[in-house]
Amino acid sequence: MTIAYTWWKDATIYQIWPASYKDSNGDGIGDIKGIISTLDYLKDLGVDIIWLSPMYDSPQDDMGYDISDYESVYPKYGTLDDMQTLIDGLHSRGMRLVLDLVINHTSSEHKWFKESRSSKTNPKRDWYIWKAPKYDADGKRQPPNNWGSHFSGSAWEYDETTDEYYLRLFAPTQPDLNWENPKVRDALYDSALKFWFERGVDGFRIDTAGLYSKDQKFQDVPIIFPDKTYQPSDLYTQNGPRIHEFHKEMYSKVTSNYDVMTVGEVGHCSREAALKYVSAKEGEMNMIFLFNVVEVGSVRGDRFKYNGYNLIDFKKAVEDQGAFIEGTDAWSTVFIENHDQPRSVTRFGNGKHHNTSAKLLSLLQTTLTGTLFIYQGQEIAMTNLPRSWSIDEYKDINTVNYYKYFKEAYGKDKDFAEKEKALMDVIDLVARDHARSPVQWDSSAYGGFSTAEPWTRVNDNYKEINVASQIDDPNSVLNFWRKSLKVRKQFKDLLIYGSFKVLDYENEKVFTYLKYQSDPESSSPKAYVVLNFSTDSVKFDKLVDGKFELVHSNVSDVVEDTLTPYEERKHREYKQVMESQNSSYKLDERSARFYETLREKELREELDQKIEETNELDKFRRLKRAVNTSSAKVEKPVSSKVSISISRGVVNTKIGKLPKSKPFSTSTSTSTSTNSNSQNNSSNNSPGNSSPENKPQGSLSELRSKRQDTPLDLVSGYSSDDGEEGG
Ligand code: GLC
Ligand code: CA
Repeated sequence: MTIAYTWWKDATIYQIWPASYKDSNGDGIGDIKGIISTLDYLKDLGVDIIWLSPMYDSPQDDMGYDISDYESVYPKYGTLDDMQTLIDGLHSRGMRLVLDLVINHTSSEHKWFKESRSSKTNPKRDWYIWKAPKYDADGKRQPPNNWGSHFSGSAWEYDETTDEYYLRLFAPTQPDLNWENPKVRDALYDSALKFWFERGVDGFRIDTAGLYSKDQKFQDVPIIFPDKTYQPSDLYTQNGPRIHEFHKEMYSKVTSNYDVMTVGEVGHCSREAALKYVSAKEGEMNMIFLFNVVEVGSVRGDRFKYNGYNLIDFKKAVEDQGAFIEGTDAWSTVFIENHDQPRSVTRFGNGKHHNTSAKLLSLLQTTLTGTLFIYQGQEIAMTNLPRSWSIDEYKDINTVNYYKYFKEAYGKDKDFAEKEKALMDVIDLVARDHARSPVQWDSSAYGGFSTAEPWTRVNDNYKEINVASQIDDPNSVLNFWRKSLKVRKQFKDLLIYGSFKVLDYENEKVFTYLKYQSDPESSSPKAYVVLNFSTDSVKFDKLVDGKFELVHSNVSDVVEDTLTPYEERKHREYKQVMESQNSSYKLDERSARFYETLREKELREELDQKIEETNELDKFRRLKRAVNTSSAKVEKPVSSKVSISISRGVVNTKIGKLPKSKPFSTSTSTSTSTNSNSQNNSSNNSPGNSSPENKPQGSLSELRSKRQDTPLDLVSGYSSDDGEEGG
């Protein structure tokens, strides 16, 4: 198999959240000059591309995801010239820059919206989505439908000037653009995309890329959370009717004309739906973020309802995220943190074994297939904010609104204190604020982030966790990341581009997987990764035979048959091996079952394909007969039968003549007949009528419906809750 290496597939991408990264001028707010001062640090870490979260001019109601001008920079972050210096500084180091593309909505301070809201007849009125109010039985004004905002409450905002509501799926000051209007799309292409491509920007992370096309009926959505007035609107807003047309247009008119990359944030969708965005032949985006891993344990549609998870759920999520591109021309991403997620070491590691568990997560991330994204501070294992901090320290609109609605709903309950504690436990685990505290550069005041008090509080642990204390320590998490990223590049065929197989689904403590090129049975070298996610010492079961070489481990003193808990640095809790000879491996029962199901799914797809081909064949036959008939040759009626079976993992197709006397089933066999008997044939199509030799292995409709029932469940990307009234 030849691998199509591409710069954006190979890349390690480092996300910078400008407000909290590095302050260069002592005003307590991060800025572009601060970023520029760290480029050598990032280069040395192994970063190829920076993804910079919004640095555009903005009132900052959603930390810059509310843009008032795509063509200028938020003055506190710097100027257009600073941006050019950043772009050039990266390019001169062989690095690149990707910006955030926020074009589902603008800020209400954008000049387009100011015009739009000014009157119903303004030429830009339909650049946004305006609807008349509804009135209830008491004559009280109500929003046009029951769609909820991702930031709590209704998704509609009333505007007095014209007595109408505008749609805003996020904050009240983030009105949704009307993508149905081609003028809007063209204006966005010019202002938000081409403006920056012309300045040398190398691509975009595309914000809320699944939301542009709203179902134009604007009807109520079904009720999912009976305790809430407003409901998740995904059914009519996510992956809407024209979404692929819009992405194809953006690609053909703009992005395909530059050597750039795109990565979309797409929420809830099935594997099939996801592939439509990123299959190379579709010409839409290069890759999308899937949220299986980061949202494991969360309740879909409500970030602050949380069920918890075990290691088996986690493995399944990792598997789904990787298997998503198997056998396709699509590409995927690997990440476990971003500006909308809590810190991974707190969420998936272990506080008592902080360093070793952070290294373990680094090993996981750097051995998975896809483009790797890491988030500022992840390389030094920054943690969530302390549980002791009160809600007043939380600044994110998502958290703040949720808490507000929660208090409104339950504040008067006798057991409010208890309810509030439960909510704070979840906020402490998953709020977006955890990713947004200032980067801890050293142990001086404010963690070396700024010389003045920062806009948001620095984590209390900056003296223990910071860049300066790790940079020269060969055992630090930071230096572990540097090595992990090198190993990833060194063995990129396996680690970046390879396939992935879990060997121990049943194991609740250890996560073992293989990385291999193409066929797992082939003799190509494999990487064998063993991660002990538990606090126990467990027996190391070698699941793969063959000769191995240890290339990377988070313990220096590896003991052959023991995987020790996080804190035991002397022993092995991780092992990654490269093998150059034939080997065999064993799957536990659950893994075997898992892969059987996957294989079945592939077979079903193959089956559908064959049936389609067969239909084509039958069309040809009919055509041929039509030609024959028209040349006045009288032909004997012919029925053809196709039987398809699955045996030993192979789809067999047989096309043969059907004895006219025997009825048959169309549930698995496709039939055609050119004579008037075709009607009769179909009336005989009951499964009970199938002759034994035609007996299907399972009905096609059954197979088809099963396929639809079991989509890969890709959980939402929006970092939010979808309704109101909290908890
Ligand atoms: C995306 C961003 C998030 C933002 C939202 C609205 O989900 O990642 O931070 O709040 O879009 O733009
Ligand atoms: Ca500053």
